Amino acid sequence: MARLKIGVLISGRGSNLQALIDAAADPGYPAEIVIVISNRADAPGLGRAAAAGIRHITIPEPGRAAFARAANRALCEARVELVALAGFMRILDTVFVEQWTDRMVNIHPSLLPAFPGLHPQRQALAAGVKFSGCTVHFVRAAVDTGPIISQAIVPVEAGDDEDGLSARILAAEHRLYPLAVRLYAEGRLHIEGNRVRVTGATMPDIVVLNPAERLASPSG
Ligand code: GAR
Repeated sequence: MARLKIGVLISGRGSNLQALIDAAADPGYPAEIVIVISNRADAPGLGRAAAAGIRHITIPEPGRAAFARAANRALCEARVELVALAGFMRILDTVFVEQWTDRMVNIHPSLLPAFPGLHPQRQALAAGVKFSGCTVHFVRAAVDTGPIISQAIVPVEAGDDEDGLSARILAAEHRLYPLAVRLYAEGRLHIEGNRVRVTGATMPDIVVLNPAERLASPSG
């Protein structure tokens, strides 16, 4: 089975990259990471690529268009078929976004279109929502927009702070991203305007209330 060739763009920690590396370690997973590109030489995620024996490069180019040209060249040379942004914290050049339209995905730690941009978990807490989560979507020119592939919901707990909520959302990200990439690699995503139809998907048969109907007694 030929596996889909993925290029992963990172800027930092790389825990979502690690989730994709771990998924692809299974020979039955339909995608493999052929190159990791960082815009920062000190990104810890580069060490994860090195440990997994994956080719990795840094493009420290500050100019948006120059970065995009260099990244596009590296991705094409590696015969990448899908670009996965995994904590890539730079705005991409619009030419690059067009070059990779419908072949580039991103993960964001909120239920988009709510809370795009920076500090989405802080934004969720400030808005007082009872659920947040994460989203994998095809990338369009405006930041954190594009047809949504999959989402995971994470309840906001009473007394949550940014770190606690971020950690629980991150755990969901690590499950959601490999799933979305697998669906893409299996050819099961069909973009229809702003919606993505997923063939063979089953909808979870649940409604979740927060707070739950059965409340703990005030005394605990
Ligand atoms: C993740 O939470 C990811 O969703 C977020 O940055 C973090 C990167 O962590 N991305 C964005 O906010 C993009 N708008 P990681 O480097 O450990 O994967």
